[in-house]
Amino acid sequence: MSYTVLMVEDEIDFIESVKPYIETRGYEVMVASNLADARLKLKQGIGDIVLLDIYLPDGNGLTLLNETINMAIRPSVIVVTGNGDIEMAVEAMKSGATDFLPKPISFIQLDKTLQRAADNVSLRRELAFYRQAQLRNIDFIIGKSPIMRRLYEQAQRAASASVSVLITGETGTGKSLLAKAMHKMSPRANKPFMAIDCGAVPPSVFESELFGHEQGAFTTAEKRKLGLMETADGGIVFLDEISSMVVETQSKLLRALDEHSFRRLGGNVEIKVDVQIIAASNRNLKKMIGEGAFRSDLYYRLKVVDLEVPPLREHKEDIPELVGFFIRKYNPHRGTNIQNVTPRAMEVLMKHDWPGNIRELNNVIERAMIFCDEAVIDLQHLPVELIEKK
Ligand SMILES: Nc1ncnc2c1ncn2[C@@H]1O[C@H](COP(=O)(O)OP(=O)(O)OP(=O)(O)O)[C@@H](O)[C@H]1O
Ligand SMILES: [Mg+2]
Repeated sequence: MSYTVLMVEDEIDFIESVKPYIETRGYEVMVASNLADARLKLKQGIGDIVLLDIYLPDGNGLTLLNETINMAIRPSVIVVTGNGDIEMAVEAMKSGATDFLPKPISFIQLDKTLQRAADNVSLRRELAFYRQAQLRNIDFIIGKSPIMRRLYEQAQRAASASVSVLITGETGTGKSLLAKAMHKMSPRANKPFMAIDCGAVPPSVFESELFGHEQGAFTTAEKRKLGLMETADGGIVFLDEISSMVVETQSKLLRALDEHSFRRLGGNVEIKVDVQIIAASNRNLKKMIGEGAFRSDLYYRLKVVDLEVPPLREHKEDIPELVGFFIRKYNPHRGTNIQNVTPRAMEVLMKHDWPGNIRELNNVIERAMIFCDEAVIDLQHLPVELIEKK
């Protein structure tokens, strides 16, 4: 698992000597040269480990340390103190720093300290992962591979930070599910979660669905109707398949996001709302920007946090657990009591490339359960295409 080190430091010489070293140790390094910048980066979920200088242009590093303590997922903070500044070091440790390092830094010591901090982060992630899942009773958090854990953790951070999120990934990878899970994990969990598929509604109707309309706004508008942005106030609007949104509507959405307000169709009152937007797409929006089909300013406005759901073929180690999950899910529905999958059937499932991702796996298992009269799913219950490929 890789970790990001956020260096909060304004001394150029220090950055130039230490940053390359940390990178050679396998960490990704980001630099914030003052507290304000560091806050912004932490809010975006950047920084598993923070290497924090005390004296910064806009204040004392220890104030930032105090702020990190209340974060949903706390980074490990290593405080960099002046040599001999024992008091400051003690103060930092009392305030919850993982460690301190006196300047000038010894690379050997830095290495050890980073390693300890990384272990710390990994433990905390694990705990937070289970605590959250338990707390919210999220039974579909299936996938303990590093890539999926990392995704859930980023999702959790974005959910607690209430920022706009863009979820991308191939079809069937679990984007819609993730959006719902984020709602459950977020401080907005007790407020509405309103989802709309931007491709399923014709553009003319879509705007009225999103922003609402006044009576008489168009011929069939017999009375005032509130849109999703208004009914979801305090909660989350999930814009599924955002790539299908026409450019004109994109502009209106962008304006609404920038100003936290909008007008109903045919209305002239500005309506203020507090909604978090989660958008999802299985198309390449960057490419669409190039073709003029998607506004780049909206793209950047949406992807304050960018969550990439990996295709199943990139986390095949999760297949056995997913299979178990689907069997348990369908047993009560089908009145079956299937217990397992034979090793040779599992081998086939592990070998398949799953272009339809988790949805395809779900369907294959559901289908197998229809054909299976025994307690275990075997080769003959799987679709022939899968077997032949083997
Ligand atoms: N991690 C997971 N654990 C259990 N089930 C999952 C997981 N991810 C996806 N699924 C299941 O797989 C199916 C597809 O998931 P989902 O609809 O969220 O995919 P999607 O990425 O939104 O697809 P599309 O791009 O087609 O909209 C659903 O039945 C969902 O419940
Ligand atoms: Mg979906």
